[in-house]
Amino acid sequence: MEKLEMLYEGKAKKVFKTSESGTYWIEYKDDATAFNGEKKGQIAGKGTLNNEISAIFLSLLKEKGLDNHFIKKISSTEQIVQQVEIIPIEVVVRNITAGSLAKRLGWEEGKELPQTIMEFYYKNDELGDPLINQDHIAILGLATEEELADIRNQALKINEILNEYLLNKDLILVDFKLEFGKSPAGDIILADEISPDTCRFWDAHTKKKLDKDRFRRDLGNVEEAYQEILRRIGGSVNV
Ligand code: C5P
Repeated sequence: MEKLEMLYEGKAKKVFKTSESGTYWIEYKDDATAFNGEKKGQIAGKGTLNNEISAIFLSLLKEKGLDNHFIKKISSTEQIVQQVEIIPIEVVVRNITAGSLAKRLGWEEGKELPQTIMEFYYKNDELGDPLINQDHIAILGLATEEELADIRNQALKINEILNEYLLNKDLILVDFKLEFGKSPAGDIILADEISPDTCRFWDAHTKKKLDKDRFRRDLGNVEEAYQEILRRIGGSVNV
């Protein structure tokens, strides 16, 4: 398989065409951004760490019967995925108050939510990814009612699988963001990445933040936190 021209460069990844139809070649970058691109930086080794971490989570989900775009890892920073058309909705699932939810409700961070909360954001850089609801999704034509129900079900299943898996590693899954895509056959499958860039992970005992909040809030030891996540989920730390 050959890497062909670049199709898209995002904040944390590049997407290339490949010589094999139906696939994309993804390259994970060390670049880090926060607050809709206002804060920019680099996290040493992040591309390598997130490529491995995401490969582990996406493989786990496949094993548990949750289909997704991951095919295989091909280098320390690259993986091959199934070609899908990304649905421009960021799906956020929350178990504990943190980040923008804590701010929106005026609740302190770290409270266990009485029920899992799901939020949808319109993936649109110019608008700053605004929070949207099912009616907005309908009028924007982003997904049909059935498609959104499918997305909801998958997101809840992913939450269950990851929660259980991470608790066994002494990690709390506070919240996370998912993106879904449509396959050429019209199926909606999980795409993008699952990593400390897109999830909040806290140590179950100390509640230490082991995710991108260390970068967002200038807490230091960002790379070490990502390495710790990889170590706990059984990946190699010799990256
Ligand atoms: O900032 P907020 O509290 O809304 O983030 C909720 C979750 O979604 C966090 O785990 C964060 O890492 C993730 N997220 C993301 N990409 C965004 C916005 C949020 O991965 N553009």
